[in-house]
Amino acid sequence: MSEFASLITDWQLHHGRHQLPWQGTRDPYRIWVSEIMLQQTQVITVLNYYPRFMKRFPTVQALASAEEADVLALWSGLGYYSRARHLHRAARQVAGAGFPLTLAGWQALPGVGRSTAAAILVFAYGDRHPILDGNVKRVLARVFACEGFPGAPDVERELWALAEGLLPENRVESYIQGLMDMGATVCTRHRPRCPVCPVQFQCRAFAMDAVGRYPVARPARPVKERTFRMLLLRHAGRLFMERRKSGGIWGGLWSFPEMEMEGSPEHFVREQWGLEGVVSKRHPPVQHVLTHRRFVIHAVEMDVGMEGGGSSQWHRPGDALKLALPVPVRRLVEHLSDRGD
Ligand code: ADE
Repeated sequence: MSEFASLITDWQLHHGRHQLPWQGTRDPYRIWVSEIMLQQTQVITVLNYYPRFMKRFPTVQALASAEEADVLALWSGLGYYSRARHLHRAARQVAGAGFPLTLAGWQALPGVGRSTAAAILVFAYGDRHPILDGNVKRVLARVFACEGFPGAPDVERELWALAEGLLPENRVESYIQGLMDMGATVCTRHRPRCPVCPVQFQCRAFAMDAVGRYPVARPARPVKERTFRMLLLRHAGRLFMERRKSGGIWGGLWSFPEMEMEGSPEHFVREQWGLEGVVSKRHPPVQHVLTHRRFVIHAVEMDVGMEGGGSSQWHRPGDALKLALPVPVRRLVEHLSDRGD
């Protein structure tokens, strides 16, 4: 057995969690339900729900013949309700076909991924499979100072390979339970308890005094940049505004017509609305920065000879300020309004 595995397995004996209501059984149904509830949810929370659920639905047949509303009612408060819907649907499959006996068989059930399938086979049948849930990813990312974001497919593949390589030949249940418990109680996301960690001296992140750097954070999404013109068409003290279609970041808000940087504004307004316009002012570009986007807006003022495109779209600047406007549009209207236009 690798030193890592033997340290984890020994730690489990004295410091791991024992006598939880889903332990000490080989009933795949009891174990399956616990593993689904434990996805993204702490043991302490699951302890408030699991006994009631098992009392009401003690067998997979009982769950399969229940109404979905009753299943959801018992899940109420546990969150991530798709877990309950998937479990219920899967129970109907299992009640007919019997419990799967292979990784692929379990993974074919709704709501059961590779790690959950592995945990069920380990705890219910004593099979030998690695797991890789969120806690275990964090442990491995730290111990091996894994430089990639663990959610990225290639990094995840690397972590699965590590998990596979570390798996001991024997005492797999204690090892897997130990890894889960160590991740949940010692190698925590915030303020990990390194002084009591059984694999402190195997841990590369600890050796570099850089535990906080692992697991590596999700990379920031690239900022998409768009440069465009906003046309401020003016006639008789009024501004032409359009209500944007729903959807998108400014859906339903009032804004100015937009055009790309190519082409002339005069040509654009003639093509678009049959209006004759003359550019009277080009504003310096302004940036509008959102979390994952940056807009560079070139406002162009034009005097047009007549109103067009529907009279309800022409507004005095003071009235336009009462509409729902995106921030950069509001600034432009305020600017015109301050100028006394
Ligand atoms: N997280 C997922 N499965 C678990 C289990 N069996 N024990 C403790 N934490 C878990």
